[in-house]
Amino acid sequence: MGKLDGKVAIVTGSGRGLGRAYARRLSRLGAKIAITDINLKSFEEFEVEAKSMTADSTVAEIVEGGGEAIGIEMDVTDERAVNAMVAQVVKQWGRVDILVCNAGGGRGRPVDTKASSLDSALLHLVTSMNLYGTIYCVNAVAPVMKEQRSGKIVTVSSVAGLHPSTDGGYAHYGAAKAAIAHYTRYLAQDLGPHGITANCIAPGTITTGRIVATVMPNQANANRDRTEQVALRRLGSVEDCAKVVEFLCTDLSDYVTGQCIAIDGGLMRGN
Ligand SMILES: NC(=O)c1ccc[n+]([C@@H]2O[C@H](COP(=O)([O-])OP(=O)(O)OC[C@H]3O[C@@H](n4cnc5c(N)ncnc54)[C@H](O)[C@@H]3O)[C@@H](O)[C@H]2O)c1
Repeated sequence: MGKLDGKVAIVTGSGRGLGRAYARRLSRLGAKIAITDINLKSFEEFEVEAKSMTADSTVAEIVEGGGEAIGIEMDVTDERAVNAMVAQVVKQWGRVDILVCNAGGGRGRPVDTKASSLDSALLHLVTSMNLYGTIYCVNAVAPVMKEQRSGKIVTVSSVAGLHPSTDGGYAHYGAAKAAIAHYTRYLAQDLGPHGITANCIAPGTITTGRIVATVMPNQANANRDRTEQVALRRLGSVEDCAKVVEFLCTDLSDYVTGQCIAIDGGLMRGN
């Protein structure tokens, strides 16, 4: 018996990286998983991600491992597509117990995204991918969870949403992630009376294929500094985050709501 046998989970942005790790872990616990992504083959973009795949998609990995999964390609910034995705999951499996709003990320360079000179197109894109995408998914799933009188929602912030960068760069991303953390506190108040929990995670530097390919190369000193700033003296793995997601999606966290948990190895020396 798995802890999540009979449960249905939606994980956005699960074609690769952290979302894939969340989907695979929840599947191993027995949940049926809707893998949703703007590109279900997004792992092809980064060598480390492609090499780590054991089948030709996250869906295929889960199915070949004996789990149940469907793949739905959609953009979380498109509210109608999000509504259609949730309707498809409900049609397929009749319920939604878990929503992990993982899709998102940053765009642009820190040097071009300082707080006082934000490009409006980048601001719009990153706010849409992160904050609006999260809210659209919650809006679509909440009526289903309310009807069930149960559910667990996990949203995804970042350490960048809890503390600013030292030079004020990547402000669009930090502001969107800060908004997600605070939105989740409101969400917990709203949905608590319906038996639904809502919590947020704020990862530090996690070595996904994207981070390995785009943030770490040619930065030997920066990488050493980055590690030395972490109390545990190592960067995070996708499984470090997936373990916390497991906690927030199972009965271990039944009396935890409205929280934002940093998964950063002690980088921030307290919130
Ligand atoms: N990796 C880290 O160090 C780190 C740190 C803090 C926060 N995060 C957050 O964790 C989440 C996952 O990060 P990751 O490193 O795995 O990123 P990633 O870029 O490797 O994966 C993101 C996935 O989301 C999908 N996606 C992007 N935009 C989408 C959209 N509009 N609609 C649907 N799917 C979309 C991508 O195709 C991709 O598969 C993001 O929200 C990110 O901001 C990551």
